[in-house]
Parts: sequence; C-alpha cells; structure tokens
Amino acid sequence: MERMKSSEIRRRFLDFFAERAHRLYPSASLIPHDDPTVLLTTGGVQQFIPYFLGHDSPPSPRAMSAQKCFRTPDIEAVGDWHHLTFFEMLGNFSFGDYFKKEAIGWAWDFLTEELGLPPERLWITIFEGDEDAPEDLEAKQFWIGVGVPEHKILGLPKSENWWGPPGETGPCGPCSEIYYDYGEEAGLGDPLDDPKYGPGGDEGDARFLEIWNLVFNQYEQLKNKSFVPLSKTGIDTGLGLERTTAVVQGVRYVYDTDLYAPLFEKIREYTGVSLGDAQPTDRALRIVADHARGMAFLIADGVRPGNQRREYVLRRIIRRAMLQAYARLSMRPGQLAGVAGVVVDYMGDFYGELRSAREEIRRVVTEEAARFVEIYDSGMLLLETEIGRMQGGNFPGDVAFALHDTHGFPVEVTREVLAE
Ligand code: ALA
Repeated sequence: MERMKSSEIRRRFLDFFAERAHRLYPSASLIPHDDPTVLLTTGGVQQFIPYFLGHDSPPSPRAMSAQKCFRTPDIEAVGDWHHLTFFEMLGNFSFGDYFKKEAIGWAWDFLTEELGLPPERLWITIFEGDEDAPEDLEAKQFWIGVGVPEHKILGLPKSENWWGPPGETGPCGPCSEIYYDYGEEAGLGDPLDDPKYGPGGDEGDARFLEIWNLVFNQYEQLKNKSFVPLSKTGIDTGLGLERTTAVVQGVRYVYDTDLYAPLFEKIREYTGVSLGDAQPTDRALRIVADHARGMAFLIADGVRPGNQRREYVLRRIIRRAMLQAYARLSMRPGQLAGVAGVVVDYMGDFYGELRSAREEIRRVVTEEAARFVEIYDSGMLLLETEIGRMQGGNFPGDVAFALHDTHGFPVEVTREVLAE
C-alpha cells in the first residue's frame, strides 16, 4: 500500500476540521507579529493568544491552522534522531465555543478513523491535580467514553500537563497528551509497573512518542497567583506533523519520513553519502536537513543573518549546517543552498512564500555559508600551525579550540568536529 504522504495528512487534518466548521487561518509568520516577548513563532496558538486573552474578538469561534514553528532551545541537540528546530504544528482552536468533550472526540476520530491508527496503540496523559487545580477527571471520563482503557490514561504533574498563562497572568489550564506506542519490544520496562517507562516518563521515549497536545483553557491566573474559573473556556491543540507522519508511515523517527527524504536524496546526489552509511555522517545529514528547512523558512519570512536575536539564530543554523556539510560531507556553499532549494520545491505548494523567496534563499544561504567557509579555512590553518608546534602534544583529544568570527562570536568549530 502507498504510504500516506505528509502533505496528505496535513490536507486531511484541515478537511476534517473544516467539516466541523473551523475557519482556516494561514500559518502566521515565523516572526511574531506585535509580540516582543518571543523571538520566533513556536506554536499554533501564538497568533490566537489575543482571542484567548479577550483583547480581540475572534471572527469565528472555531479556528484551525497548519503552523510553521521554530524552537531555538534545541539547536545544539539537533543531530540525534529526535530533535528538530523547525517543525509544523496542526491545530484546532475554540474560543468560548466547544470544549473538552468535542476536542477529545474529534482528536480520537481523526487519528483512528481518518488516519487509521490502531486505537490500541494510543495512550493518554492528563493533569493529575495539585494545590491550584484538581485532577482533570472530566478529560479522563471523555477518554474512557471514546474507548480508551483506564490503565492507559496516566496522570502527570503540572510540569508535563499544564499550559500557560502566556505571561504573568491570563488564561491557562490542564492539557492532555496523546502518545503513540511503538510496542512492548521497544520499551525499557513495563509502564504499568513503573510510570517512568510510560508516556512522559524519564525512560518513556524509547517506546512512546507524543503526537498531540490538547490544551483546555479553563482558568485565569491572577496577579496574586490564584486561579479562578474562566467564563469563556477555550481549546488549543497542537498535532506535530513530523511525528504524526512517522507514526502513519510506520517508521521510528521523523527523519525517516517523506518530509526529509528529498533532502537526503539531494545530499546523496552531491556527495554520494546516504543516511545509514556511518554515524558521524548520519549526524551531519540530520543537521543539514533540519537546518536547511529552518533557514529556508526563516529567510522566506524576512529574516537575514546577523548578530542579534532572530538574525543570529539564522546565522547560527547556516553556520552549523555548513560546518557539517563542509567538514563531514565536502559540500560547497552553493550545495547547501541547493538543499534549501529542495525545501522550496517540496513545501512551496502549501507555503507559497517559499516560492516567492526562492532566489533570495539561494543567495543568502550561499553568501553566509561561503563567509563561514572562509573563517573555517583560516581557523584550520591556524590550528594546523599550532599542532605543528605542539610536538608530542595531545591532539586531537584535548585541544579545546574555539574559533571566533570578526565580531567575536563563537563559530563552534571545536571538539565536535575534531574528536569524532
Ligand atoms: N499550545 C500547545 C503546544 O504548544 C498546543 O503544545
């Protein structure tokens, strides 16, 4: 059977919620509109926060979007099998309209009927309750109502299953997450004996993958930190497209899905290197692929490389990708731009801004990457000279070698490259 493509999953999500009277909002820009508190757009809810706060009244009580997102805390972690900086979040939203019962029922129907995931593979987490708010028994009852066995519904603390408020005060509430179970054989222990092996547990990632977060806005947090029930409750959900695609396509990792395959194929064309050839090159391939997506989307939204804030985020990912592309895969700057170009080819149908920015993406990536290669080459020359002087020194293990560019920013050519 043909594997369902990521673009098909996105389309089915939007069709499903359109049939349930949700108004489609285009993805907001990665540059947050009128919100200096955040660097980049990190979730679908961001463009709707004024509606939840009651600052604006929504044109429609139900909304949906496929939102491009960029999360900076994970930049350094990208390279393993799991982490991403750029991803897409599919979401349905209610502003004082439907609440938990519908949100839970529709999420369940979408996954099991529309995408055909086996119900027995799905586990649920809910908020377990604390001094501020009680256990979310309501959500639990609705999950039981759609047929989830009670032992697969786990209560977790606020750190895991609570959202908001976005600032010091405002709407917030419990959330409930849906996890996909890759099966007992993937796990490190029995989640029913010890919750650390379960969804959201410290050792749970080996077996469980969180795919959907349903947020129930039902309290307002006041200045004195107390919680009062909101008169107008709300729903905010986020279904990760990359993870859902992995699950639907029957693969273990997001990098094995069709969202990354054309990028790896392009790199193979340039270098002959494929995923699975060797560990260091695998890591390089994942870094180049993730960052190529991020750089294409950031540039299309108007970000340019620089030394501050989001400009520096773009500079960092271009450099980080080029370091791997150059030192590990012998790629040239124009070839990194070529990989970013594949992002335009592959995602430009849905995100038209990519197509309009095609030439600019090519130019910016090529120039920034070429500048980096110059710094890298001059740094390597320095390093080699230094090693020559070290006579019997301890290279490569203990050489802590940090390059800085002309602005004094670290370029991250260090042990990472030298030691592996
Ligand atoms: N706003 C929720 C999240 O970011 C859905 O996970």
